[in-house]
Amino acid sequence: MKTQSNDFKKRVVYQIYPASFKDSNNDGWGDLKGIISKLDYLKDLGVGILWLSPIYPSPMDDMGYDISDYKNINPRFGTMDDFDELIKEASKRDIRIVMDLVINHTSTDHEWFKKAIETPENKYRNYYYIKKGKNSKKPPNNRDSMFTGSAWKKVDNLPGYYYMHLFCDTQADLNYHNEEVIKEVESILKFWLDKGVYGFRCDVINHIYKTSLKDDHSRILYNRGIKYYGTQDGMFKILTRFRTEVLDNYDTFLVGETGNITIEDGNRFINERCLDTFFEFDHSGADKNKFIPILKAKLKPKRLVKPIFKWIKGVPWLGVYLENHDQLRSVNRYGNVDKYYKESAKLLALFLLSLKGTPFIYQGEELGCLNYREFSMSDCKDIAAITATKTVERLLKLSEKKAFKLVNETTNRDHARNPMPWNKSVNGGFNEGHETWLKVNDLYQTINAEDEEKDPDSILNFYKKMIKFRNESDVLKFGDFKDEIVTNKLITYYRTYQNKTYQIVLNFSDKIIKYCGLLNLKLLISNYEAQENFKTLPPYFAGIFEVI
Ligand code: NOJ
Repeated sequence: MKTQSNDFKKRVVYQIYPASFKDSNNDGWGDLKGIISKLDYLKDLGVGILWLSPIYPSPMDDMGYDISDYKNINPRFGTMDDFDELIKEASKRDIRIVMDLVINHTSTDHEWFKKAIETPENKYRNYYYIKKGKNSKKPPNNRDSMFTGSAWKKVDNLPGYYYMHLFCDTQADLNYHNEEVIKEVESILKFWLDKGVYGFRCDVINHIYKTSLKDDHSRILYNRGIKYYGTQDGMFKILTRFRTEVLDNYDTFLVGETGNITIEDGNRFINERCLDTFFEFDHSGADKNKFIPILKAKLKPKRLVKPIFKWIKGVPWLGVYLENHDQLRSVNRYGNVDKYYKESAKLLALFLLSLKGTPFIYQGEELGCLNYREFSMSDCKDIAAITATKTVERLLKLSEKKAFKLVNETTNRDHARNPMPWNKSVNGGFNEGHETWLKVNDLYQTINAEDEEKDPDSILNFYKKMIKFRNESDVLKFGDFKDEIVTNKLITYYRTYQNKTYQIVLNFSDKIIKYCGLLNLKLLISNYEAQENFKTLPPYFAGIFEVI
C-alpha cells in the first residue's frame, strides 16, 4: 500500500470548468493550453489542487458529463500531449490535478452503448439497463429522471425495448451488477492515476448501484425510484473494492458527489474507505422553497449555516463549498449584491475558508462573479434548465417565458458556467473575440481578474489573503470545530488546535449588530479595517480572532 500524503486535508481545491476557463486558440471554447497559461494565476491565488470538470470526448449534451471515451481528451480541449504538459507544469508549481469521474452513465455515443444496441446477443447489452417495456407504450417502470420526465427512453432500432437514463436521455446508466463494468472502471482509474493525476471527483457516485427495477409507489413528487438506487449497500462494496484493488497503490484522493445522504451514510463512506470526503447538499436549499425547490425563497442564513455545521460535526472530514458548476453564484444567493457586494462576498470567503474540511472554490468565485443580469431561454445551453422549463410549462400551464423565468432564478446552471472574466477587453479576455459557446456575462467590465489584482481592497485580493492565512494556519487546517451562536444574523464558531483557539464571527446581515463577546480577543484577519474594539459589528462583518 502506497503511503498517503493526505494533501487533500492541507490544500485548498479550485474547480475549473474547462469550457469556460481560458480559450487559447480563439475557437470559443476554453482548453487545456488555456488552463496551463493560467497556472501562475492559480499558484498566486494559493490553491493546491485543481479539479477539472470532464475533459473527455463527449457530444457535450450535458457538457462533458456524457462521456463517449474515458481514456482520451476531447479535441475541443486539446490533446493528450496538452494534458501531460498540464500535469507537468502543475506539478512544477506543486499543484495536483483531480479528474471528474462520471461512471453512473456513459453517453449513448460511447462504443459500449452503440454495440449494446447493435445486435441482440452481445456482451455490451448487459453493460446497461436495456429492458423490455411493460407493453408497447409503457416503459419498464415509473423511474423519474433527475432532469424531470421518465428515466426510460425507447431504443430506436430495438422495438419494445427501453434504456434507463437517470439524467438526460443521451446519458445511459451503467449496470454495476455486471463484473465487466466494474473492471472497466478499474482500468479507467488506473489509466489516469498512471498518468499522474492525484484523484477523482466522483459524479453522482451514490447512485451507481440499482437494487430493483420495480415501480416506486412512494408518495413523492420527483425522483421516483430513488429508494432503489440511492446509497445502496452494493455501492459501498464497489467503492471499497476500487480502493483495495486500485487506489491503494497510489497516493490518491476521492471526493464524492453524494446527494440525499444521511450522516450515517457519510460516516460509512469514510470509515469503509469508499471516499476520502464528499459533498453534502442540505445547505444548498437555503434560498429555495422547501417543498418546491424550483421556487426561490428569501435567504435565512440559519438554513445555510446549520446544515453545514451539522455535517462538519457529524463526519470525520467534509468537502466544504458554496459554489460549483451546478449552482447559481453564491453572492447572488447568500450575499447582498445591491448594498454590500464586496463585504458580503468577502464574508463568504472567510466563512468557507475558516471551516473544518477541504474547501472547494469554483472558478470566478474568487472574483465575486455574479449571475447574468439578462438571460433568456434562447441563450440557454443547460440541458437540465431546458428540460425543467418544459416540465414546468406543462405542469403549471405557464408560457415558456414564465416557466423559464422560474427556472432561471433558481436552477439555471449557465449562470455559473459562462466564460471567466480575465480583463476588460473583448469577451472579458477569455479569448480574442470569437463567439463563445455560451454567452459572455457583460459584468466583465467591472468584475475581472486584472482589475482586481491591482486593487488592494478587491474580492480577489481578499481570497488570496484568506487562502494564505489558511495555508499557514494549523488551527484552520487541522483544528477541531465547535459552533456557538447561530441566528439569522450573528454566527460564531471556534476552531482549536493544540493549545490555540480561534473564534470566527460573522454578521450575516445588513444591520449593525451589538456583540460584546470580543473583548480581549486579538483580531487576526477580517473584511473590515481593524477597530479599537468590536462592540458592534458592521454589516456583513467577518473576522477571525485569537482567543487569549
Ligand atoms: C452531477 C454533475 O455535477 C452535473 O453537472 C451533471 O449534469 C450530473 N451529475 C449528471 O452527470
